[in-house]
Formats: sequence, structure tokens, C-alpha cells
Amino acid sequence: MSSNLMTSRTIPTSTDAPAAPTARRRLGAGRSGQVFEEVTEDGRRLACKVFIPDRPSSIVNTVLTGAVNPYRWDRHAVECGVLRRRILEPLVLWWFDGRLRLPATDGARWYEPERAFELRAELIEGRHAMLRHPLAGEAKLEARELDREILRPLAKHLGEAGFDGLLWQAGKGNPVAAANFMRDERAGAVRWVWIDAESGVPALFSLNPWHLFRTYLPLCIKHGCWLFDDVDAPRIRAYLGEQADALKAHLGERAFARLRADVDALEASQRRWRSLPRHRRSVASHQAVGKITREQARHYVDKPVRWIARLVGKACMRVPGKVGALLAKVGAKLHPRHVHAALGRYARFFLSQSVRTRWASRYVRLRVLDWRERGFIDRDGARAIRTSMQTDNAAEYIADFGVHLAIKPGVKLLVWGLVPLLKVFGVIDSWWLVGAIALYGGAIGRTLYTLGRTVQALVRGRSAPWIALLAGLAPVVGNAAYPLQLLAASSKGDVLAARFLVHDILSGVGRKIPIWGGKDTFLEHRFNALARLVTRA
Ligand SMILES: Nc1ncnc2c1ncn2[C@@H]1O[C@H](COP(=O)(O)OP(=O)(O)O)[C@@H](O)[C@H]1O
Ligand SMILES: [Mg+2]
Repeated sequence: MSSNLMTSRTIPTSTDAPAAPTARRRLGAGRSGQVFEEVTEDGRRLACKVFIPDRPSSIVNTVLTGAVNPYRWDRHAVECGVLRRRILEPLVLWWFDGRLRLPATDGARWYEPERAFELRAELIEGRHAMLRHPLAGEAKLEARELDREILRPLAKHLGEAGFDGLLWQAGKGNPVAAANFMRDERAGAVRWVWIDAESGVPALFSLNPWHLFRTYLPLCIKHGCWLFDDVDAPRIRAYLGEQADALKAHLGERAFARLRADVDALEASQRRWRSLPRHRRSVASHQAVGKITREQARHYVDKPVRWIARLVGKACMRVPGKVGALLAKVGAKLHPRHVHAALGRYARFFLSQSVRTRWASRYVRLRVLDWRERGFIDRDGARAIRTSMQTDNAAEYIADFGVHLAIKPGVKLLVWGLVPLLKVFGVIDSWWLVGAIALYGGAIGRTLYTLGRTVQALVRGRSAPWIALLAGLAPVVGNAAYPLQLLAASSKGDVLAARFLVHDILSGVGRKIPIWGGKDTFLEHRFNALARLVTRA
């Protein structure tokens, strides 16, 4: 491997002594890796992406390709990652006339403490696209700007220039891609930065099947593999040829020559990475992460059947241990001491209005803190939201909101534990009914509570929480019942805490959706935007 791509020792072996892990601040994590801050000896701040993939994407990659994410263990794949970024750095700046850039790429190295490669790049001081909320101001339009002014033109440029596999990272049919872009918040800096050009899973999980059939499956056939950041090197070369005059004028002769050399190197590395057959990928990945020795790897490299038998044998042997650990965990939770303490907490909660208010306001404060840490709310905004909770009406409704949240674990236990048992013992006779209870269990629990509060209010001659009663009937988003009630009850519909909670709850739906959802995805933004129908944010 050429030394300027790797910033340190390159070849992993299972016999290496692990180096002591250095203290590094964690910046975030995605499907393909975890990102840490490191300050270099010369004072530069780097974001180091250690390719430790998450479990679901590891399963997907193992089923489709025989091994976990190749960036973790295959140095040729990592080399492709570095070269792709290095080629894209000048091209993206040129395409966008400075409105989008990549972080300066530093290189890659083997990170022994985690037994994985890491990619090192400039740390971006900024945040992801702003979520809408009552204090977002003009920034509320950032997600739309990212989609229309950055991702769509980027996909067009990448397609034309032969970066086939990167259409996925640039968001074609992939709402998770919004999280791959940040805004540099320093004055005078280029605003949008494409921080992540390495996939976690092959480009097969398009939310829109149109893109799967029109774009990704044909590209899989063209490249002869499950598309995973693959580039069409001859196409890039042809593109550079077509644009040679403009690029030379923009970059200078030397930088242009380096670009061409990098494309040649990328093509060679991609060929090496892709030439490994499935069973060798499996053996090599196990060796790299230290699960087998170099000798064992040599032994199995030509014996696919024995290797598979070994994998199956190991998996079977692990089952009793895993089941045992699970039972021990459940057993520990059901220990009488824990159950007693939990019941005590529950009882205090339901008996005391002040405990409920304290618990609920703490919950709101933690949610505000989360938005603050993500850079969406500043200190004054957080203070304004907290202050708005202190009016009489607000405190009471927020306590009721707390009850709606607090009964969820109990309802879940009933729905997922008791109801299937009732079916098994024949008390309930239809799985459809079990499914319906699973979907509506939360809404039923909520509504029973709100109904009680409504009757109480009517008996005492006070105004009843009709809006909460109605809104709470909706599954999932019904969690926003009391914030909505609070909005309706306040004279101008402007209680900040309530408006914030409606945005938080709705964006939470987007965060929880599997595969396509999560923090900073377009799904989080889309669900969050629904809240503006009532909050006008
Ligand atoms: N260069 C960077 N500067 C600052 N933060 C970063 C940088 N790269 C990644 N991060 C943080 O780490 C998170 C995960 O990084 P990402 O590269 O998207 O991982 P994955 O490939 O697993 O999706 C990002 O959402 C961001 O918060
Ligand atoms: Mg990412």
C-alpha cells in the first residue's frame, strides 16, 4: 500500500500486542463506524472514523458478501475510501463553486485497540441540518436547502462522473444520507460539508423501490457485485478528459495530474479489493479482527467447506452461552429487590402530583439538553423553554404528559408479555386481535388515564382536557396529547415548552423508524415538519 494513504503501520496480524487505547472524545456513530476526535502533535483536530460497524449492518454484509463491512478489515477497500475522498475533494468544490466541500483527508491507519482500520479527516466544527422548532428562525429551511440545492445536484454530478456507488451516500433513495452532511458554523467557512463518503450497507435498501430497480440493481449488474461505493474508473477518466481544460484552469496542471494518478490508483485498489472470493473474505476478516491466527487463516484459505463447518460449529457452541446470559439478565431484573424498588417508585409517582411534575419537567429538560447538544437550541432558547413550563396550566398539563410517558413501560409489559400468553392459553382466539392490541395498547392506556382526568375535571366543574382525550387515541404520535392540550389552552397557543415537545415527539417517530430512520435523517426531518401544522414553527 502506498505510504501516503496510510498514516501508520498498515497490515493487521492477529499476533500483534494491543496498543493502549488513547483517550479520544467520541463525536458520533453511524452504521459503518464510530468517530472520535484526536488532536495531532502539530495541533490539528481530526475526526477519526474507526470502522466498527453496528450489528444490523454486520449481519446484512455477512449474508450478502461473506464478511462484515470491508472497511473494517480490508486494506484495499480502505485505500479506495481514502482515494475516493481525495479525488472528490477538488471535484466537489469545483462542482459547487465552494458551497459544498469535503473535510481535508488525512489518510488511514490500522487502529489496534479496536482491531479495525480508521479513516482520518479534518474535524468539522458545526452541526447537522437544523430541525424545525419554534426558535429555529430562518434555519428551519436548512433540510430543504440540503435536499434541493446540495443532494440533488450532487447525485447528478456523481452519476455523470462515474462515482456510481456514491449515489447512495449522496441520498438517492436513501433518507439516512442527510446525516452525512454537516454545516460548518465558522464565519466565512463553506457552509455544507460532506463528512461521510463510506457506506455501511450495500445500496440495496432504497426507501423508494423505483431507485432500486432503475438505478441500483442495474449498477449491481454493471459492476458484477452488490454495489458498495464502487466507482466506474474508465468513466471517471473519460469525464476528466472531457472537462480537462476547465479543470486545469481551475486546479492547475499539477493538481490535475495528481487527480488522474489517484484515479489509476483507485482502480487498482478497487480491483484488488473486489477480486477476493466470498470464502476468502470471510477468512481474511476473521484473521484481521483477531478471531483466528495467521496459521489458521493459511490453513483454511483453500478449504471452504471446512471453514464453513467451523463457522457453523462455533455459532452452535455460542448459543447456550448467549441464552444463559439472556436468562441471567432477565433474572436479575426480576429480582424481588428490584421489583420492590420499581413498584415503590411507581407508587410515589402516582400518589404525588409534585413527584409527577418534577419527573415530567426533568424529562423536558433532558430533551431540551439533547437538542442543545445537537446545536439546534442555544442557551437562551433552552432557558425560555424551561421558563414557559412554570405557568399554572403548563405545570399541570406537563405532569399529565409525564403520566402518559410513565405508563408506557407497564403497558408494553402487558402488551408484549401478557397478551401473547392469553392467546397461547386460548383466552384470546385471534392473532389479529393480539396485533391490534400491540398497536393500540399505548393509546388505550393513555386514553384510560385521560378519561379519568376528564371525569375528574367535569366533577370539579373545571375545563376538561378534550383535546388530549382525542389526540391520545392516535397510536405513537398520541404521546403529544397533553402538549397539544396545553397549546389549545394557552391564550395565543404559544407555550414554548408545548410547541417544542410536539416537535420533539414527532421527530422522535422519525428517529425510531428502523433502517431508514434515525438522528439527522430525512425521515426525522419529515416527521418533525408535520408538527408545524399545529405549532406554526
Ligand atoms: N469530519 C467530521 N467532523 C465532525 N464530526 C464528524 C465528522 N465525521 C463524522 N462525524 C460525526 O460522526 C457521526 C458518524 O459519522 P459517519 O462518518 O456518518 O459514520 P457512518 O459512516 O458510520 O455513518 C456523524 O453523524 C457526525 O456527527
Ligand atoms: Mg453516515
